[in-house]
Formats: sequence, structure tokens, C-alpha cells
Amino acid sequence: MSASALSGREVLLVVGGGIAAFKSALVARELQRRGAAVETVLTAAGQRFISGVTFAGITGRAARVDLWDPSYPGELHIALTAKADLVLVAPATADLLARMAHGLGDDLATTCLLAARAPVLVAPAMHPRMWEHPATQANVALLRARGVTLAGPVVGPLASGESGIGRMSEPAAIVDAAARALTPQDLAGRRVVVSAGGTHEAIDPVRFVGNRSSGRMGYAVAARARDRGATVVLVSGPTALAAPEGVEVHRVRSARQMRDAVLGAAPSADLVVMAAAVADYRPADVAAEKIKKSDAELVIRMVKNPDILAELGAARRPGGPMLVGFALETGDLVERAREKLARKGCDLVVANLADDGFDGDDNRVTLVTPGAVVPLERMSKAAVADRILDHLAAQGRGD
Ligand code: C5P
Repeated sequence: MSASALSGREVLLVVGGGIAAFKSALVARELQRRGAAVETVLTAAGQRFISGVTFAGITGRAARVDLWDPSYPGELHIALTAKADLVLVAPATADLLARMAHGLGDDLATTCLLAARAPVLVAPAMHPRMWEHPATQANVALLRARGVTLAGPVVGPLASGESGIGRMSEPAAIVDAAARALTPQDLAGRRVVVSAGGTHEAIDPVRFVGNRSSGRMGYAVAARARDRGATVVLVSGPTALAAPEGVEVHRVRSARQMRDAVLGAAPSADLVVMAAAVADYRPADVAAEKIKKSDAELVIRMVKNPDILAELGAARRPGGPMLVGFALETGDLVERAREKLARKGCDLVVANLADDGFDGDDNRVTLVTPGAVVPLERMSKAAVADRILDHLAAQGRGD
């Protein structure tokens, strides 16, 4: 997720009265960590679950609770909403959603929601029976029709001890949605396929040949493409990363499984980004039983895997997807990237040195196209993802 969408932005956080309010403190902290400035408004019921002092401590600004606040000389709801870039309601209770839907304005939270002209994002939290009630569903439909965006609710354990739909989304997911709500949707209507992670090539039922790819770069491309409005398919090799919300994830293990998944999704795509570290070779034979230890040498014969990117490049046709490959090198970066661009028939190669990009959250890459070599400074993988996706956005503008 890019820090830039939230950086320097003003978020008005409205905290309703549900037990999930304790997680709203983490929402405030995460917004703050990603560079946003936060004003907090608590409803009367919200204050029963969490203190305004908590938010003041996190945000550095007094939490507001009272429309008639004597310490504020002007119209508090007008002042708070005039500067807001985003209004985030978390938790949004059934009652608060109903009051929003019907335009009530009898406290600070609801007057703010009436006065706001910024995008509104709500994170509902309630018992499943309340969420599923026709009144709540009708209110949500009304709010959606007016352009309100929802983050969750999700299925999970609830305060009642039951499990079901109605749990508030996790703070990080809510803040991701907030960043999304502040991101220009310049890839709306575009379809992006991304591969990520390494592949596991089986030796026997329990062993494999793999590599150190963390998957972070590909996951960042998938998340940013989603944030910018694209429909995203992520073909992921084994990684420790959580699936990004709002992205169709296909989990695969081997290069051949990855090939099938990528080739299956590519025909309808506008862009294919092969960020995966696909194994070039696989064991020629996979032992049916676990290979037993012995004193003899163990020789594993390896055969070539299909080159997915080269296959896509060879099958290019007008109107087909833009193709982006990665080149992880230990030397002669630009020369090898140019060679790969030509040999694999792609539009862009993202080249980096092995020491610069593995694992961590940032990367230093050079973008190599048939017409240009653009070295970028070290930046977050989300920012690198944006630079790659800018090529698709530019194509959309007919550049
Ligand atoms: O040839 P090399 O492995 O360096 O090329 C890297 C690029 O090609 C990456 O984009 C990678 O995802 C892709 N690739 C592939 N299939 C392979 C090997 C690499 O699509 N078998």
C-alpha cells in the first residue's frame, strides 16, 4: 500500500457505539502512521466503549464529542468537515447507519455526516441478525447508492461468542480502504494479472527445490492496481503474505501450475506483470515415496520449466495485454534487461540487482523499455508498483 494516498490528508474518524470501537484506536494509529492527520468524533454510545482521551493521545488532537462544545466558539461540525479529505465511520453501528441513511442530525457525529462533502467510508460492526435485518440492508443500499463506500463487515468471531457476518474489518484493512478511497481510479475498467512469489518444484512428497522470493513485489503490484480501480487476478506461489482484500487470488505451487493459471487469466487482461521468481528447472522425476537417507550421493536431474513470459510474448497479438517482466541480476543490469525485453517479447522489464530487492519492503529498480532506460531511486515496493502501473495508465490515455 502506498503511503502517499494518506500522507498529508485529513481524516475525520467517527466512532460509533459498538464493542469494535476498541479497534478504532488502532485505526487512528495506523492512519497516523501512514501520514494522515486525524480528527476524532465519538458518539455518546461510542464513549461508553472507548475514551476520547485514547484518541487524543494517538492523534495529538482533542477528540470531539459534543455538538454544544463550549470550548469551541464556532460551528464545530462545519469546521471539522470543511477540512476533511475523508470521513471514516468505524465502527458504524446499525443505529448510526440508519441515522445516516435518513439524514438525522441530532448530535455531533450525524451533523458532521450531513455537512461532509468528502468521500465517506463506513466500517459496519454488529451482530449478524442486525446486519441481515431488512432495515439495515435497505439503509446500506441507500447509502451505497449515495456513493458511500463500505469496508466490511467480515465473517468471523463476534462479541457474543458466535461467529458470522458482522465483525468489523481489521484496522489495517480499513485503513487500506481509506487509502483506496483517496486514490484516483485511473485504472478503473482495466484488468491486471500479476504473478508473485517463488515456485516449489517437488523432489518427493515432502521436499522441493525453491527460491528466496518473498512475493512482496508482486503483492504490491496487485494491491496498487486494485487501489487504482483495476480488476486484479493474483497468481501466487507459496508465500507467507496475506491475500490482499478485493483481489482474486489463485494459489499455485509449481511453475507448471503457475503457467496454467497465468495463461488462463491472461487473454482477457490489459496487463500481465510477471513478478514471480519462476523456477527455471524442476526435478525430472518426482519420487512417489519420501527419498530415504543413505550413504550414497543423491543426484537430482533437472529439466527445463516452461518460460511463461516468453510464451506470452511469442503469442502476442494486437489488442493483447501489455507484458511486464522482471530481471533479477547480479551484474550487467541494463544489458541483460534489454536482452530479456527482446527475447521474451515484453513491453517493460523491471531490472534490479539481487542485493537491492530481495525480501525487504523497498527496492531500487531500473525500468527498461524498447525506447528508454529509467533508473529509479530506492523507494517502497508500492511506489515501484505505481511506476509500473503508470505505463498501463498512460496507454489508457493514448500516450
Ligand atoms: O529469464 P529470467 O528468469 O531472468 O526472466 C525473469 C522474468 O521471466 C520474470 O518476469 C519471470 O517471472 C519470468 N519467467 C517466466 N517463466 C520462467 C522463468 C521466468 O515467466 N520459467
